[in-house]
Amino acid sequence: MDYKNLYNEKLLDHYNHPRNKGVLENANAKSGVYNPSCGDSISIEGKIEDDVLVACKFQASGCVISCAAASMVTDKSITKTIDQIMAFDKQTVLGLLQLELGPTRLRCGLLAIEAVQNAVKEYQKDK
Ligand code: FES
Repeated sequence: MDYKNLYNEKLLDHYNHPRNKGVLENANAKSGVYNPSCGDSISIEGKIEDDVLVACKFQASGCVISCAAASMVTDKSITKTIDQIMAFDKQTVLGLLQLELGPTRLRCGLLAIEAVQNAVKEYQKDK
């Protein structure tokens, strides 16, 4: 499918050249989330030191928006404090994607934020 007319350049760049994709050695913050309406999923492995996310990798199986958002959200999250990450919301993802999204597609965009925030919560639980 040709996505060029549907999505902006920045979004397509993150989709075609994802940042932070892969596996992280020595992760201490992990999560996996999925979208029950489509079955797509994102998993996160992060390293938190002194309440700052110093490294983060993701793996995703999903649509253009969810995969591009995973790349952008992990990029934005690295070097942020736990409090800053937990404050990410709908506006954060809309600002990153620079796209108007209806409720269904918004869920695709929010999946990555949910994944990163769940990883932080798991880290806090294990502390
Ligand atoms: Fe499944 Fe977008 S269609 S996350």
